[in-house]
Formats: sequence, structure tokens, C-alpha cells
Amino acid sequence: MAGDTGRSGSVYGGASEPCTVVLFGASGDLAKRKVIPAMYDLAIHSALGPRYVIAGFARTPMSEDAFRSTLGDAAKSISEVGPIDPQQWDAFASNLYYRPGDYANSEAYTQLAKRLSELESSKNIGGNRLFYLSTPPEVYPDIVEQLGRAGLARPSAPNSWVHIIIEKPFGRDLASAKALNQIVLRVFDERQVYRIDHYLGKDTVQNLLVLRFGNGIFEPLWNRNYVDHVQITASETLGVERRGGFYETAGALRDMIQSHVLQLTSLVAVEPPASFDATSVRNEKLKVLQSIRPFDLEMVAQSVVRGQYAPGRLGEKPVPGYREEPNVNQASKTETFVAGKLLIDNWRWAGVPFYLRTGKRLAKRSTEIMIQFRRAPHIVFREKEIEPNRLILNIQPDEGISVSFGAKRPGTEMSIGNVTMNFCYREAFGEGTRSAYATLLNDCVRGDATLFDRGDSVEAAWSLVDPILDVWSAAKSAAVPQYPAGSWGPRESDVLLERDGRQWYNP
Ligand code: BG6
Repeated sequence: MAGDTGRSGSVYGGASEPCTVVLFGASGDLAKRKVIPAMYDLAIHSALGPRYVIAGFARTPMSEDAFRSTLGDAAKSISEVGPIDPQQWDAFASNLYYRPGDYANSEAYTQLAKRLSELESSKNIGGNRLFYLSTPPEVYPDIVEQLGRAGLARPSAPNSWVHIIIEKPFGRDLASAKALNQIVLRVFDERQVYRIDHYLGKDTVQNLLVLRFGNGIFEPLWNRNYVDHVQITASETLGVERRGGFYETAGALRDMIQSHVLQLTSLVAVEPPASFDATSVRNEKLKVLQSIRPFDLEMVAQSVVRGQYAPGRLGEKPVPGYREEPNVNQASKTETFVAGKLLIDNWRWAGVPFYLRTGKRLAKRSTEIMIQFRRAPHIVFREKEIEPNRLILNIQPDEGISVSFGAKRPGTEMSIGNVTMNFCYREAFGEGTRSAYATLLNDCVRGDATLFDRGDSVEAAWSLVDPILDVWSAAKSAAVPQYPAGSWGPRESDVLLERDGRQWYNP
């Protein structure tokens, strides 16, 4: 399918005024791989304002030069914003600063405040500041409280803004998410707070809203009268890599379902908002989470499956099991796979199951939403076994949308074959999708919180997964089903759908 001209004008709206970004956790992996490359992309498109400063803060002792060169090396090898231009990088890097410090030490924040004022006055940057928390979540409370104490949570100049981006995981259960919200909201106002879920920054995820609410043909079908069921798959081929220590305390339910997969669910199910602004969109998304039927003990047993990868193969390559990964307990019961069935108790979706699954070391990397429509009410052809119509939204990596339907095979017989009509982002618009982090940073400096999570929604998502966590932690002695790395998860996951007379649509 051919598309139109693609994005017109600059790729980012960005900030029109100068700004300072303070990046906590600046020596960490996320900062190197995602956040700094995204800032570079914004900077070279003039979306960090006419002048900017990026001040890194982390525990690792390091000189400013070492900080710049470490980030440069990382960005050049792993950037997801396209090739880094050495000259543009040098110009960008001259705005990077670094200061090691302890997150809980108030003196470090007094020093930080002083340094920011010096840098800002030497570069003629007003008071616009963005604090980005890309640290381990345990230190979020310290940072927030210290920012408050050092007077950094309020704008230092008239007509300027202070925003704070907080990375996921936002809490590890409902109680901790509530406690964190309270701490954050004692220091900042909700309108200053940007809880990031990078899935919302993906073009293909936002396109879900455009597909539904920018076109007349899909929405009339988007309900219980026409949809048989929905499947959302977020599968990864990667294992836990170097994050074994973190993952042992998280697991797939916390790491992926509570955030990314429930975000996708909300966008598939959401009612049309009154307008595309932060309050309207987030109000509607919250209603979806509030309409999902809460899990009780029996529902967890019936409708939620967990699994853990055992040794297996990815293509030809043998790969170890989860319990053999670095920093993972050899008897670990942490789940690396979750599949579940949700029911949304509202007028649009009553009775339509939403099957969700996510896992590491699965057969293929793919994030996909599959809407399966009801079959035609009566088949007049001799061939009765016609495949159902499916609308597939491929979020990544082959970004696009396809619709499948039955078509007559050529020939004298009335024989029906299943065909698909495809839209591919790259072919249609002549360019790939943007880095999700760049999109979200751009929105944050512009003050647009539409694609960020609100405190009440984060809590609503935790209140859905909390009962599952409780059941699993009470069943400590229960074995976690194993699946070979490179498969589609444990057998129990297939059984979940087979019981309903359905099967997974494997990307
Ligand atoms: C992160 C999770 O939020 O999302 C990781 O912590 C996961 O475990 C990652 O690998 C997946 O993101 P993406 O954009 O690669 O699908």
C-alpha cells in the first residue's frame, strides 16, 4: 500500500524555550541505550529549545569527559535513532555535564542546585527544568524528597516549568505504588509528573487511536456484536540478559503486564475520548481499567498461566534456562511468561475475552494485537470451514496492519482461500517509526501528558495484578511450568484458549 508524504516539516514540535534536563541514573544502561540517544535526536532537530543543558547525576564516580565519551561510544553502537553523526554528536556532547553523588545526600542536591544555576546563567537558560528518574526504583523516594528539600521542584523563574519523568516500574504492588504517588504528590503537582511507559511512545501504538477514531470503517465493528475475541501478544526472544538481579524481584507480570500490556489493552478497548488531550484520553483509559473484572482466587486458577524458560534453542543456537542466567536463583520461581484471559464488564465488551500473553525467550520477537471477528452468520458455500476475519496490528518489529479475509481461489470450483491485505509503515511512509523515548521526551518538554500514565491509572493497573501476585506468593510450593526457550510458552497457555474452543494466533 502506498502512503502520503510522510511527516511534514520538523519531526518534533519540541520546546520553543531553552531548557535543562537533569538525568538521574545517567551512568545506567537505560540512559545510555535509550534516553541519551533520544535526547540527541531531539537536540539535532532543535526540539530541546534553542539552548539546552543535560546534567547527568549518578552514584558512579566519573569525570565529565569520561561521561561524554562513554555515552558517545554507547550511542554510536546501539542507538535506535539511526546513525549518529560525529560532528553533531560533538556539538551535543558539549552540552553534557556530569556530577557523581549519593541520591539520599541532601548536600549533593544543594551542590546540584548551585551548579544548575551557574550553568543556566552562563548559557542564558531560563528556569525550564526536566528531572528524569532513570535510576533503580528503590531510590525514587529519596530523589523526589531531596528535590523538594532543595527547592528544585518549583520553577526558579516566572513563566517557566519544572517537570519530572519517572520510569517504570512505578511501585511493585498497589500499596507501594500508592505510597510512591503520595511521596511524589507531596513534592510535585500531578500536572508536573510524567510517569513514562515507553510503549505509549511507539508510533504504532498511537496509531491504534488513529485507526479507530480517525476512520469511519472500523469503529462500527469494534464491539461485542462483531468481535469474537482479542489477543495481545508481546513476545521477546531475548532472555533476561544482564538484568537477572532486577528480574528476580519483578517477573513478567510486574515487568510487562502491569504496564505495557495493560496499556495496549486500554487502547484497544477505550471509548472515543471527547478530544485528544491529556485529561480526556486518560479519563477514558482509566475507565477501561476500572471495568476489567477483578481477579479472585478461582479466576487466577482458571484464567492465568505463568511459565519460566528452560534451556532450549533459538534457531540453531542452544541457550540456557532462566535458572542458569547470571544473578538468578537456581531454584527461582520467578515467571518469565504470563498468559491470561481478561473480561471487560462494560456495554461495548461484555462477553468478549481478551487473551494476553508475554514472555521472554519465545519463538519470535513480536508485539501484536489480533482482533478476531465473528464468523459470517450463515455460509451459503459448500466449503463451510472458512477462516474468521482477523485484523492484526503489528506493533513491532514489522510495523503495520493487516486484514485477513476469504477470497475465491481461481478456477472452476467455488473454493475459498484465506488472503491478507497489508499496510506496512516503512513502505507507505518511506521511513521507519521513531524512537518511543524521543517522542515521549518531546511531549514532556512541550508539556503534553497525553501519552503518560496518571497516578490513578497506575494504581488501577496494580489493583488488577495484585490479586494474582497474592495467589502466586501464597502458593510458594507450587511448581512454575517450564517451557523450552524458543517455544511459545508452556502447554498450559494453549490449554487456556483450547478450553474456550480457540487457539493462539502465533505471529
Ligand atoms: C521493558 C521491560 O519495560 O520493556 C523489559 O522492563 C522488556 O523486560 C522491554 O524487554 C521491552 O520493550 P521493547 O520496546 O523492546 O518491546
